[in-house]
Amino acid sequence: MKFPLNDIIDLLDERLELNLAESTNKDLVLEEIWDESFNQGLKKLKLEYGTSQGNEELRELVSKKLYVEKKNIVITNGAAFSNFLSMLCLCDIGDEVITVQPNFPPTMDLIEGLGFKRKLLKLSFEEKYQLNENELFKLVSEKTKLIILVTPLNPTGTILSKEEVEKISIRLNNEYPNCRLLIDETYREATYGNNQVIPTFAGLKDNIITVSSLSKSHGTPGLRIGWLHSNDDDFIKEVSVAKTNTVISNSVLDEYVATQVLKKETQLFKTRRIHIAKGLELANKWVALNKQFISWNEPSAGALCCIKLKETKFNKEQIKAFYALSKDAGIQIANGEWFGETNSYFRLGFGYMEIEKLKTTLNKLSEILKHIATQNENI
Ligand SMILES: Cc1ncc(COP(=O)(O)O)c(C=O)c1O
Repeated sequence: MKFPLNDIIDLLDERLELNLAESTNKDLVLEEIWDESFNQGLKKLKLEYGTSQGNEELRELVSKKLYVEKKNIVITNGAAFSNFLSMLCLCDIGDEVITVQPNFPPTMDLIEGLGFKRKLLKLSFEEKYQLNENELFKLVSEKTKLIILVTPLNPTGTILSKEEVEKISIRLNNEYPNCRLLIDETYREATYGNNQVIPTFAGLKDNIITVSSLSKSHGTPGLRIGWLHSNDDDFIKEVSVAKTNTVISNSVLDEYVATQVLKKETQLFKTRRIHIAKGLELANKWVALNKQFISWNEPSAGALCCIKLKETKFNKEQIKAFYALSKDAGIQIANGEWFGETNSYFRLGFGYMEIEKLKTTLNKLSEILKHIATQNENI
Protein backbone atom coordinates (compact mmCIF):
# COMPACT_ATOMS: atom_id res chain seq x y z
CA MET A 1 0.00 0.00 0.00
CA LYS A 2 1.34 3.45 -0.93
CA PHE A 3 -0.17 5.17 2.09
CA PRO A 4 -0.12 4.01 5.71
CA LEU A 5 -3.58 3.26 7.09
CA ASN A 6 -4.45 6.06 9.51
CA ASP A 7 -7.50 5.79 11.76
CA ILE A 8 -8.40 9.39 10.88
CA ILE A 9 -10.33 7.63 8.10
CA ASP A 10 -12.94 6.83 10.82
CA LEU A 11 -13.90 10.51 10.73
CA LEU A 12 -15.34 9.79 7.29
CA ASP A 13 -16.50 6.22 7.64
CA GLU A 14 -17.49 5.61 11.29
CA ARG A 15 -19.05 8.84 12.49
CA LEU A 16 -20.22 8.89 16.09
CA GLU A 17 -23.11 11.01 17.31
CA LEU A 18 -21.08 13.16 19.74
CA ASN A 19 -18.30 14.47 17.56
CA LEU A 20 -15.41 16.16 19.34
CA ALA A 21 -12.98 15.03 16.66
CA GLU A 22 -14.04 17.12 13.67
CA SER A 23 -11.96 20.18 12.75
CA THR A 24 -14.57 22.11 10.77
CA ASN A 25 -17.24 24.59 11.75
CA LYS A 26 -20.74 23.07 11.79
CA ASP A 27 -21.89 21.69 8.44
CA LEU A 28 -23.56 24.24 6.20
CA VAL A 29 -26.95 23.07 4.96
CA LEU A 30 -27.93 24.15 1.45
CA GLU A 31 -31.09 25.91 2.60
CA GLU A 32 -28.88 28.47 4.39
CA ILE A 33 -27.87 29.88 0.99
CA TRP A 34 -30.90 28.82 -1.05
CA ASP A 35 -32.86 31.71 -2.54
CA GLU A 36 -34.63 32.39 -5.84
CA SER A 37 -31.44 33.43 -7.64
CA PHE A 38 -29.64 30.27 -6.39
CA ASN A 39 -32.60 28.23 -7.59
CA GLN A 40 -32.65 29.78 -11.07
CA GLY A 41 -28.88 29.43 -11.50
CA LEU A 42 -29.02 25.79 -10.46
CA LYS A 43 -31.86 24.99 -12.85
CA LYS A 44 -29.98 26.39 -15.82
CA LEU A 45 -26.59 24.95 -14.91
CA LYS A 46 -24.97 23.07 -17.77
CA LEU A 47 -23.27 19.93 -16.47
CA GLU A 48 -20.28 20.34 -18.76
CA TYR A 49 -16.59 19.93 -17.91
CA GLY A 50 -15.13 22.78 -15.92
CA THR A 51 -12.03 24.70 -17.05
CA SER A 52 -8.52 23.61 -16.12
CA GLN A 53 -7.85 26.62 -13.90
CA GLY A 54 -11.36 26.67 -12.46
CA ASN A 55 -14.56 28.70 -12.74
CA GLU A 56 -13.79 32.34 -13.52
CA GLU A 57 -16.35 33.92 -11.22
CA LEU A 58 -15.18 31.72 -8.37
CA ARG A 59 -11.54 32.64 -9.03
CA GLU A 60 -12.55 36.29 -9.10
CA LEU A 61 -14.21 36.00 -5.68
CA VAL A 62 -11.19 34.15 -4.23
CA SER A 63 -8.76 36.68 -5.72
CA LYS A 64 -10.69 39.56 -4.09
CA LYS A 65 -10.40 37.85 -0.68
CA LEU A 66 -6.68 37.41 -1.12
CA TYR A 67 -5.98 40.81 -2.78
CA VAL A 68 -4.27 39.08 -5.70
CA GLU A 69 -4.95 38.65 -9.43
CA LYS A 70 -7.36 35.92 -10.52
CA LYS A 71 -4.94 34.72 -13.20
CA ASN A 72 -2.75 33.47 -10.35
CA ILE A 73 -5.43 31.31 -8.71
CA VAL A 74 -6.17 27.66 -9.51
CA ILE A 75 -9.34 26.11 -8.11
CA THR A 76 -8.65 22.64 -6.76
CA ASN A 77 -10.52 19.72 -5.20
CA GLY A 78 -9.86 21.00 -1.68
CA ALA A 79 -6.67 22.25 -0.05
CA ALA A 80 -5.57 18.60 0.09
CA PHE A 81 -5.43 18.53 -3.70
CA SER A 82 -3.59 21.87 -3.80
CA ASN A 83 -0.91 20.26 -1.63
CA PHE A 84 -0.87 17.20 -3.88
CA LEU A 85 -0.50 19.23 -7.08
CA SER A 86 2.26 21.38 -5.57
CA MET A 87 4.33 18.34 -4.57
CA LEU A 88 3.65 16.64 -7.89
CA CYS A 89 4.74 19.66 -9.94
CA LEU A 90 7.77 20.70 -7.88
CA CYS A 91 9.43 17.41 -6.93
CA ASP A 92 11.19 14.55 -8.70
CA ILE A 93 12.15 11.19 -7.21
CA GLY A 94 15.04 11.79 -4.80
CA ASP A 95 13.83 15.28 -3.86
CA GLU A 96 12.87 16.20 -0.34
CA VAL A 97 9.78 17.79 1.16
CA ILE A 98 9.84 19.21 4.68
CA THR A 99 6.82 19.74 6.86
CA VAL A 100 5.96 19.95 10.55
CA GLN A 101 4.75 17.25 12.93
CA PRO A 102 2.08 17.10 14.38
CA ASN A 103 0.13 17.86 11.22
CA PHE A 104 -2.84 16.93 9.06
CA PRO A 105 -1.92 13.26 8.31
CA PRO A 106 -2.36 13.30 4.51
CA THR A 107 0.11 16.19 4.23
CA MET A 108 2.78 14.07 5.94
CA ASP A 109 1.86 10.77 4.28
CA LEU A 110 1.50 12.12 0.76
CA ILE A 111 5.21 12.97 0.56
CA GLU A 112 6.34 9.34 0.74
CA GLY A 113 3.20 8.16 -1.04
CA LEU A 114 4.37 10.13 -4.08
CA GLY A 115 7.88 8.71 -3.72
CA PHE A 116 9.68 11.76 -2.31
CA LYS A 117 11.87 11.95 0.78
CA ARG A 118 10.03 13.20 3.84
CA LYS A 119 11.66 15.29 6.55
CA LEU A 120 9.58 16.23 9.58
CA LEU A 121 10.24 19.09 11.96
CA LYS A 122 8.94 17.99 15.36
CA LEU A 123 7.05 20.67 17.27
CA SER A 124 6.33 20.07 20.92
CA PHE A 125 3.49 20.70 23.31
CA GLU A 126 5.97 21.91 25.95
CA GLU A 127 7.24 24.61 23.56
CA LYS A 128 3.67 25.56 22.70
CA TYR A 129 4.17 24.08 19.21
CA GLN A 130 6.28 27.08 18.19
CA LEU A 131 8.47 26.75 15.12
CA ASN A 132 12.20 27.39 15.45
CA GLU A 133 13.63 28.77 12.22
CA ASN A 134 17.16 27.45 12.86
CA GLU A 135 15.85 23.95 13.55
CA LEU A 136 13.90 24.15 10.30
CA PHE A 137 16.95 25.20 8.29
CA LYS A 138 19.00 22.32 9.74
CA LEU A 139 16.71 20.03 7.70
CA VAL A 140 16.97 21.94 4.41
CA SER A 141 19.36 20.72 1.71
CA GLU A 142 19.96 21.28 -2.02
CA LYS A 143 17.47 18.45 -2.61
CA THR A 144 14.65 20.17 -0.72
CA LYS A 145 12.13 21.46 -3.22
CA LEU A 146 9.25 22.26 -0.95
CA ILE A 147 8.65 23.28 2.66
CA ILE A 148 5.05 23.06 3.84
CA LEU A 149 4.08 25.13 6.87
CA VAL A 150 0.56 25.27 8.24
CA THR A 151 -1.00 28.30 9.95
CA PRO A 152 -3.23 27.99 11.91
CA LEU A 153 -1.86 24.50 12.46
CA ASN A 154 -4.02 21.39 12.62
CA PRO A 155 -4.25 19.93 15.33
CA THR A 156 -2.91 22.73 17.58
CA GLY A 157 -4.55 25.99 16.45
CA THR A 158 -1.18 27.77 16.72
CA ILE A 159 -0.23 30.43 14.19
CA LEU A 160 2.86 31.80 12.47
CA SER A 161 3.45 35.55 12.43
CA LYS A 162 4.08 37.55 9.26
CA GLU A 163 7.62 38.25 10.52
CA GLU A 164 8.35 34.53 10.91
CA VAL A 165 7.05 33.64 7.44
CA GLU A 166 8.81 36.58 5.79
CA LYS A 167 12.11 35.70 7.45
CA ILE A 168 11.90 32.05 6.37
CA SER A 169 10.92 33.04 2.82
CA ILE A 170 13.80 35.52 2.48
CA ARG A 171 16.38 33.13 3.94
CA LEU A 172 15.13 30.35 1.68
CA ASN A 173 15.36 32.59 -1.36
CA ASN A 174 18.94 33.56 -0.46
CA GLU A 175 20.23 30.11 0.50
CA TYR A 176 17.99 27.70 -1.45
CA PRO A 177 16.41 29.55 -4.41
CA ASN A 178 15.07 26.28 -5.90
CA CYS A 179 12.92 25.55 -2.87
CA ARG A 180 9.38 26.92 -2.47
CA LEU A 181 7.52 27.68 0.72
CA LEU A 182 3.94 26.46 0.78
CA ILE A 183 1.74 28.01 3.44
CA ASP A 184 -1.37 25.96 4.13
CA GLU A 185 -3.84 28.52 5.48
CA THR A 186 -6.92 26.31 5.40
CA TYR A 187 -8.00 27.52 8.89
CA ARG A 188 -7.07 31.20 8.34
CA GLU A 189 -10.60 32.51 8.34
CA ALA A 190 -11.74 30.42 11.31
CA THR A 191 -11.28 33.23 13.82
CA TYR A 192 -13.28 33.76 17.01
CA GLY A 193 -16.13 36.26 17.25
CA ASN A 194 -14.95 39.74 16.31
CA ASN A 195 -11.24 38.87 16.38
CA GLN A 196 -9.36 40.30 13.42
CA VAL A 197 -9.05 37.81 10.56
CA ILE A 198 -5.48 36.66 10.02
CA PRO A 199 -4.07 38.26 6.84
CA THR A 200 -3.27 35.89 4.00
CA PHE A 201 0.31 35.20 2.93
CA ALA A 202 -0.79 35.05 -0.73
CA GLY A 203 1.44 37.22 -2.91
CA LEU A 204 3.79 38.18 -0.06
CA LYS A 205 6.90 36.76 -1.82
CA ASP A 206 7.56 35.07 -5.13
CA ASN A 207 8.69 31.79 -3.53
CA ILE A 208 5.47 31.50 -1.49
CA ILE A 209 2.55 29.31 -2.53
CA THR A 210 -0.63 29.53 -0.47
CA VAL A 211 -3.45 27.01 -0.31
CA SER A 212 -6.83 27.13 1.34
CA SER A 213 -10.41 26.00 0.92
CA LEU A 214 -14.05 26.31 1.84
CA SER A 215 -13.88 23.29 4.13
CA LYS A 216 -13.25 24.69 7.60
CA SER A 217 -14.54 28.20 8.29
CA HIS A 218 -17.43 27.92 5.81
CA GLY A 219 -18.42 24.42 6.97
CA THR A 220 -18.60 22.99 3.43
CA PRO A 221 -15.93 20.25 3.28
CA GLY A 222 -18.23 18.09 1.16
CA LEU A 223 -18.03 20.58 -1.70
CA ARG A 224 -14.38 19.65 -2.21
CA ILE A 225 -13.47 23.15 -3.32
CA GLY A 226 -10.13 24.74 -2.50
CA TRP A 227 -7.57 26.91 -4.23
CA LEU A 228 -3.88 27.57 -4.72
CA HIS A 229 -2.14 30.88 -5.31
CA SER A 230 1.34 31.69 -6.59
CA ASN A 231 2.87 34.83 -8.13
CA ASP A 232 4.61 32.56 -10.64
CA ASP A 233 2.55 32.37 -13.87
CA ASP A 234 4.52 29.36 -15.15
CA PHE A 235 3.86 27.42 -11.96
CA ILE A 236 0.15 28.26 -12.17
CA LYS A 237 0.12 26.90 -15.74
CA GLU A 238 1.98 23.77 -14.67
CA VAL A 239 -0.48 23.16 -11.82
CA SER A 240 -3.48 23.64 -14.16
CA VAL A 241 -2.00 21.13 -16.62
CA ALA A 242 -1.30 18.66 -13.79
CA LYS A 243 -4.88 19.11 -12.60
CA THR A 244 -6.24 18.37 -16.09
CA ASN A 245 -4.04 15.29 -16.31
CA THR A 246 -5.31 13.92 -13.01
CA VAL A 247 -8.94 14.96 -12.47
CA ILE A 248 -9.60 17.02 -15.66
CA SER A 249 -11.48 19.76 -13.82
CA ASN A 250 -13.53 20.49 -10.74
CA SER A 251 -17.20 19.55 -10.76
CA VAL A 252 -19.16 22.50 -12.21
CA LEU A 253 -21.88 21.79 -9.66
CA ASP A 254 -19.40 22.16 -6.78
CA GLU A 255 -18.02 25.33 -8.35
CA TYR A 256 -21.52 26.79 -8.72
CA VAL A 257 -22.43 26.14 -5.07
CA ALA A 258 -19.00 27.37 -3.90
CA THR A 259 -19.54 30.63 -5.78
CA GLN A 260 -22.87 31.16 -4.02
CA VAL A 261 -21.25 30.34 -0.64
CA LEU A 262 -18.52 32.91 -1.24
CA LYS A 263 -21.04 35.56 -2.29
CA LYS A 264 -22.80 35.09 1.06
CA GLU A 265 -19.72 34.55 3.20
CA THR A 266 -19.84 37.84 5.12
CA GLN A 267 -23.24 36.88 6.46
CA LEU A 268 -22.27 33.24 7.03
CA PHE A 269 -19.09 34.18 8.89
CA LYS A 270 -20.95 36.41 11.32
CA THR A 271 -22.83 33.54 12.94
CA ARG A 272 -20.09 30.95 12.42
CA ARG A 273 -17.42 33.00 14.15
CA ILE A 274 -19.70 33.65 17.10
CA HIS A 275 -20.38 29.90 17.19
CA ILE A 276 -16.70 28.95 17.46
CA ALA A 277 -16.06 31.76 19.95
CA LYS A 278 -18.74 30.15 22.15
CA GLY A 279 -17.16 26.74 21.56
CA LEU A 280 -13.77 28.10 22.63
CA GLU A 281 -15.27 29.64 25.75
CA LEU A 282 -16.78 26.27 26.70
CA ALA A 283 -13.48 24.50 25.97
CA ASN A 284 -11.68 27.02 28.19
CA LYS A 285 -14.05 26.40 31.09
CA TRP A 286 -13.88 22.66 30.55
CA VAL A 287 -10.07 22.62 30.64
CA ALA A 288 -10.09 24.71 33.84
CA LEU A 289 -12.62 22.36 35.44
CA ASN A 290 -10.49 19.33 34.60
CA LYS A 291 -7.08 20.87 35.22
CA GLN A 292 -6.00 18.08 37.56
CA PHE A 293 -6.34 15.60 34.65
CA ILE A 294 -5.50 17.58 31.50
CA SER A 295 -3.63 20.60 30.14
CA TRP A 296 -3.65 22.50 26.84
CA ASN A 297 -2.18 25.35 24.84
CA GLU A 298 -5.05 27.67 24.08
CA PRO A 299 -5.43 27.96 20.26
CA SER A 300 -5.11 31.31 18.43
CA ALA A 301 -7.53 30.36 15.62
CA GLY A 302 -9.35 27.35 14.18
CA ALA A 303 -12.02 25.33 15.95
CA LEU A 304 -9.42 22.91 17.29
CA CYS A 305 -6.70 22.47 19.90
CA CYS A 306 -4.54 19.78 21.50
CA ILE A 307 -5.38 18.41 24.94
CA LYS A 308 -2.78 16.52 26.96
CA LEU A 309 -3.74 13.74 29.35
CA LYS A 310 -1.43 14.29 32.34
CA GLU A 311 1.16 11.50 32.82
CA THR A 312 0.69 11.70 36.57
CA LYS A 313 -2.95 10.68 36.16
CA PHE A 314 -3.03 8.41 33.13
CA ASN A 315 -0.77 5.40 32.55
CA LYS A 316 -0.78 3.46 29.26
CA GLU A 317 -3.74 1.29 30.24
CA GLN A 318 -5.73 4.26 31.46
CA ILE A 319 -5.11 6.11 28.19
CA LYS A 320 -6.43 3.11 26.27
CA ALA A 321 -9.44 3.02 28.61
CA PHE A 322 -10.06 6.73 27.98
CA TYR A 323 -10.41 6.17 24.22
CA ALA A 324 -12.46 2.98 24.67
CA LEU A 325 -14.90 4.48 27.18
CA SER A 326 -15.35 7.63 25.10
CA LYS A 327 -16.20 5.51 22.08
CA ASP A 328 -18.64 3.42 24.13
CA ALA A 329 -20.33 6.66 25.19
CA GLY A 330 -20.72 7.62 21.52
CA ILE A 331 -18.06 10.34 21.74
CA GLN A 332 -15.69 10.64 18.78
CA ILE A 333 -12.17 11.61 19.84
CA ALA A 334 -9.26 12.41 17.51
CA ASN A 335 -6.31 10.41 18.85
CA GLY A 336 -3.00 12.34 18.88
CA GLU A 337 -1.39 9.39 17.08
CA TRP A 338 -3.32 10.32 13.92
CA PHE A 339 -1.30 13.53 13.73
CA GLY A 340 2.12 12.18 14.67
CA GLU A 341 1.75 12.92 18.39
CA THR A 342 1.41 10.17 21.02
CA ASN A 343 -1.95 8.99 22.31
CA SER A 344 -1.41 11.06 25.49
CA TYR A 345 -2.74 13.91 23.37
CA PHE A 346 -6.01 14.29 21.55
CA ARG A 347 -7.42 16.94 19.26
CA LEU A 348 -10.50 18.65 20.60
CA GLY A 349 -12.80 20.07 17.94
CA PHE A 350 -15.06 22.62 19.59
CA GLY A 351 -16.74 24.16 16.54
CA TYR A 352 -18.58 21.27 14.93
CA MET A 353 -21.49 20.54 17.25
CA GLU A 354 -24.31 22.80 18.38
CA ILE A 355 -23.36 24.54 21.64
CA GLU A 356 -25.82 22.71 23.91
CA LYS A 357 -24.68 19.37 22.54
CA LEU A 358 -21.04 20.38 22.95
CA LYS A 359 -21.75 21.27 26.57
CA THR A 360 -23.38 17.92 27.42
CA THR A 361 -20.66 16.02 25.53
CA LEU A 362 -17.87 17.81 27.41
CA ASN A 363 -19.68 17.06 30.68
CA LYS A 364 -19.78 13.36 29.73
CA LEU A 365 -16.08 13.51 28.91
CA SER A 366 -15.34 15.09 32.30
CA GLU A 367 -17.02 12.09 33.95
CA ILE A 368 -14.96 9.69 31.86
CA LEU A 369 -11.71 11.51 32.69
CA LYS A 370 -12.51 11.51 36.40
CA HIS A 371 -13.62 7.89 36.40
CA ILE A 372 -10.44 6.67 34.71
CA ALA A 373 -7.97 8.95 36.45
CA THR A 374 -9.21 8.00 39.90
CA GLN A 375 -9.31 4.24 39.18
CA ASN A 376 -5.86 3.57 40.67
CA GLU A 377 -6.53 5.85 43.61
CA ASN A 378 -9.55 3.74 44.53
CA ILE A 379 -7.70 0.42 44.54
C1 LIG B 1 -4.07 21.74 7.47
C2 LIG B 1 -5.03 21.11 6.51
N1 LIG B 1 -4.81 21.25 5.19
C3 LIG B 1 -5.64 20.71 4.30
C4 LIG B 1 -6.75 20.01 4.70
C5 LIG B 1 -7.64 19.44 3.65
O1 LIG B 1 -8.73 20.27 3.51
P1 LIG B 1 -9.68 20.22 2.24
O2 LIG B 1 -10.98 19.71 2.73
O3 LIG B 1 -9.76 21.64 1.80
O4 LIG B 1 -9.04 19.35 1.23
C6 LIG B 1 -7.02 19.84 6.04
C7 LIG B 1 -8.18 19.07 6.49
O5 LIG B 1 -8.38 18.76 7.63
C8 LIG B 1 -6.13 20.40 6.98
O6 LIG B 1 -6.32 20.26 8.28
